[in-house]
Amino acid sequence: MSRIETLLASMTFDEKVGQLNMLSAGFAVTGPVLAGDVTDAVRGGLTGSLINVFGRDATNDIQRVAVEESRLGIPLLLAFDVIHGHRTVFPIPLAEASSFDPDLWERTARIAAQEASADGVALTFAPMLDIARDPRWGRIAEGGGEDPLVASLYGAAKIKGLQGNSLASPSSVAATAKHFVAYGAAAAGRDYASTDVSERTLQEVYLPPFEVAVESGVAAVMPAFSDLSGVPMTSNGPLLEGWLRKRMSFSGVIVSDYNAIAELVVHGVAADLTEAAALALRAGVDIDMMSSAYTLGLPKALSRGLISMGDIETAVRRVLQLKERLGLFDAPFGRSAEISATLPARRETAREAGRRAIVLLKNDGDLLPLAPKSTRIALLGPLADAATDMMGSWSGAGRAEEVVTLLAGLREVPHLEIQYARGVGIDQEDDDGVERALGLAKSCDVIVLALGEARDMSGEAASRSGLDLPGDQANFARAVFALGKPTVVVLSSGRPLAVPWLFDQAGAVVASWFLGSEAGHAIADILTGKASPSGRLPVTWPRSVGQVPIFFGERPSGRPASDGQYTSKYQDLPTTPLFPFGYGLTYGRFTYAGIEADPTVAGEGDLITVSVRLRNDGRSTAEETVFLFIRKPVAHVARPLLELKAFTKLTLRPGEEGRVMQILPVEALRFPDPDLRPRIEAGEYQILVGPCADREQLLSTTIHISESGRG
Ligand code: GLC
Repeated sequence: MSRIETLLASMTFDEKVGQLNMLSAGFAVTGPVLAGDVTDAVRGGLTGSLINVFGRDATNDIQRVAVEESRLGIPLLLAFDVIHGHRTVFPIPLAEASSFDPDLWERTARIAAQEASADGVALTFAPMLDIARDPRWGRIAEGGGEDPLVASLYGAAKIKGLQGNSLASPSSVAATAKHFVAYGAAAAGRDYASTDVSERTLQEVYLPPFEVAVESGVAAVMPAFSDLSGVPMTSNGPLLEGWLRKRMSFSGVIVSDYNAIAELVVHGVAADLTEAAALALRAGVDIDMMSSAYTLGLPKALSRGLISMGDIETAVRRVLQLKERLGLFDAPFGRSAEISATLPARRETAREAGRRAIVLLKNDGDLLPLAPKSTRIALLGPLADAATDMMGSWSGAGRAEEVVTLLAGLREVPHLEIQYARGVGIDQEDDDGVERALGLAKSCDVIVLALGEARDMSGEAASRSGLDLPGDQANFARAVFALGKPTVVVLSSGRPLAVPWLFDQAGAVVASWFLGSEAGHAIADILTGKASPSGRLPVTWPRSVGQVPIFFGERPSGRPASDGQYTSKYQDLPTTPLFPFGYGLTYGRFTYAGIEADPTVAGEGDLITVSVRLRNDGRSTAEETVFLFIRKPVAHVARPLLELKAFTKLTLRPGEEGRVMQILPVEALRFPDPDLRPRIEAGEYQILVGPCADREQLLSTTIHISESGRG
């Protein structure tokens, strides 16, 4: 009999339920229910996993209690949210997504896994794969943006980086795909609010990243807090047991979100914890994070016949299997191998990730890069010397004292003379520094204005009703612009900010999101031209919160917006975004020509090669990201205006020409037919290639897909 079956046969009822009970060890607070001392529960075998604990000594100490003092010595699963780095903090996920660089996504996850496993962490709750098309929702900061392809590739890279080639490797950490599913479609952008999306949108937009995550071997999945059309995800049997486990053959662990099982009572689908526990267990949820519903509710659920002992043992078996895959039974202590990359190398990767996350949104008159000659810079604004905010939400084991701020980064540049004044706070109304800041700016050549959000204005439970600059920053910015000096705005935020007036008046604007430990170095590298910006927007950037939700993959209207009276327009604002998905300037100037597709007639199983010529007419070497979209103008179901199918990078020197070749498998054209069966529909398809999701900037050609085989 296997170790697991032998264990299972010897476990008491309480010990079985204990393996399904996850408690917080309190090293961090990530939910509304606070933890007490967990030692007795561990010693009594009443909990099989802990979250929010890290550190070699702390994890070994509590693991020793489980392994040496509990009756069966089953090792604990120790978990922590390593969302964008552990001790070395990388850019927030939305920022990393801006790099459109799967290799980088994997490399930063690998470093995070090494640092976290060295701190005793065996399971993390990442990657977050929620598609986000409403920037009011604070958790837009935590994922890969608005597009399913980007989120899918982001998730696959993160899972590979975190889990490595084997979970049993000491430097691997089990990954969790979350939050399953459609959490980002929260009503009115309010976190935890109800979601209601069509089956078609679920299949075309929200499920694909989780399908790829399962195919990538993700060890765990976390259901979302939210309900989907009235069925809370934590008790959504059709999607958890039905789609995830049976249709996708997911055999890993499903761990609830924090207190989510108990919240089934608040959702109104369970009368008490007993019913909540039964609903969740039958839906396929193995681990109850911090709600105690399983501990308190499963005994009664069993006696009331709402569940069977087999249901419980099936969940326990999956938890024990994960612990075995992680090698915890044989090596419960010190998961960590030596961290292969040195600390300086890890910091350099963070700096590289920071550079590649920065999106240059405006650069009038090539104000950037800053002139190489000695320049007196007035560095103003509340995000200039903001170490904690630079880490963004979910900063893991990061420490503010280890963060390079923008002020520190610029001060290291030898030929720059930096004068700094904060001016105003991020969101408090203290204007006492404005006059000093303006006075200081008058004697400088260029102003760098660091504005944006505090880190806790995005992330979980951080929805905002507006997308403006918080506090009195707007008035301060207008006063700075009124000085008439060349002004570069560095915008730090966890979401796009709808500040069209700022883009009108600034000479240059970079979206720096929150870049983590090496923020200041990364921004300084871009501002001084040590590196050319290459970041592109993974989300559409709105003019106003009134346009939200706004994204490039919308389906057509029968009366598309135009100047005509009876069309889908606003009376007071263009319907176009301030910046489209994929937008981002470089220090080069790229022109596109000569799009070709081969073959132009194809069928199932064929590969279509799409090529386009590029030339860099700029004065600097730069990296261009080339996007490949499709559009099916006529189909049995109206298709989105654009669908992203690939993106590729090309670096060209000034005056250099190159050709980008992208492979489009006909298989990638599959979409759910009127009966929601994924099919490849014959007919004409437009292939569109260019720098962003703006049709006016895309070159297009047409291919024909025949019913069967190449035409
Ligand atoms: C939080 C988040 C989830 C996180 C979990 C553990 O509420 O929703 O993303 O992994 O609790 O911290």
